Amino acid sequence: MGFFDFMTEDIAIDLGTANTLIIHNDKVVVDSPSIVARDRITGKITHVGKDANLMQGKTHENIKTIRPLKDGVIADFDASEKMISMFIKNIPALKKKMFTPALRMVVCIPSGITEVEMRAVKESCERVNGKEVYLIHEPMAAAIGIGIDIMQPKGNMIVDIGGGTTEIAVIALGGIVCDKSVKIAGDVFTNDIIYYMRTQHNLFVGESTAENIKIRVGAATDSLDAPPEDMSVQGRDLLTGKPKQVEVSYREIAKALDKSIQRIEDAVMETLSQTPPELAADIYNTGIYLAGGGSMLRGLDKRISLKTDLPVYIAEDPLKAVVRGTGMALKNIPKFRSILIK
Ligand SMILES: Nc1ncnc2c1ncn2[C@@H]1O[C@H](COP(=O)(O)OP(=O)(O)OP(=O)(O)O)[C@@H](O)[C@H]1O
Ligand SMILES: [Mg+2]
Repeated sequence: MGFFDFMTEDIAIDLGTANTLIIHNDKVVVDSPSIVARDRITGKITHVGKDANLMQGKTHENIKTIRPLKDGVIADFDASEKMISMFIKNIPALKKKMFTPALRMVVCIPSGITEVEMRAVKESCERVNGKEVYLIHEPMAAAIGIGIDIMQPKGNMIVDIGGGTTEIAVIALGGIVCDKSVKIAGDVFTNDIIYYMRTQHNLFVGESTAENIKIRVGAATDSLDAPPEDMSVQGRDLLTGKPKQVEVSYREIAKALDKSIQRIEDAVMETLSQTPPELAADIYNTGIYLAGGGSMLRGLDKRISLKTDLPVYIAEDPLKAVVRGTGMALKNIPKFRSILIK
């Protein structure tokens, strides 16, 4: 341990399209929506995370809310860097420090990311004082977070359904054997609901409302064992222009999401068909693990299980599986060196 190690802090980041989570000293210290609000006149970022999220869809012309990540990768560099830096500065244990400490970071990235995008994430981290930055593929982090021993000669399939992307990967011997990343995940589900409400109910709803509908009455099948109650939804009537309210059932939302879920199923099937036979045999026994917020959609596990004829398990606390795994890799960098990208 060198002298400067005293001034180094370790953090693990899951920089997601929908949510950013940070682990510091074994604790999740940031769990916030990946969103910022920018003042259009001064160009300054005024709010981040939960505060900015509350403003979404309710802004006036001088203020704009931005989601800096799209499809799992950084779309607005300036906004994303400010967001990361503000999140880090607000970590209670670091706030007390007189000067910004050097950071040793492990950050996860989608498996379908390009070289250029990878470098961009790394550079962003370096600019927020990252002195030692490692990247880790999201499905790998999810697998570690779920508690799978990724180093063993045994195949495991992970499906991480986030906000921007669904990442499907077969992992064995500490490597990704085959994978697929599709841009169908929570955000697309939300847009499907907006479209459905507009075309079936003539009701114009915003993103936040559509996301609420997804969480309250979202479903992947129209035959749930424990169906949620119908939900009253308010929005603007497209014909009269007046505010109006309609009732929606989970069956309607299952219909609205059907095509998108089919595309996720197709991607899972395709990945399975590319899996080498010995690993396919393992997966027959181990089943499929789901992680990410999208995995909480009612009945999705059952639907994928019916489609693949495999057992499907949802990770414990699926929104945190990736950051948990990233944090575990950070704690044991030598053990995970072969899967960390320097
Ligand atoms: N109970 C729920 N049912 C359905 N979807 C949910 C539920 N809770 C959260 N979600 C959705 O999960 C998504 C966020 O998941 P997660 O935090 O795993 O994504 P992310 O890591 O930010 O995105 P990505 O990995 O694609 O970059 C959002 O689209 C959110 O609406
Ligand atoms: Mg994610």
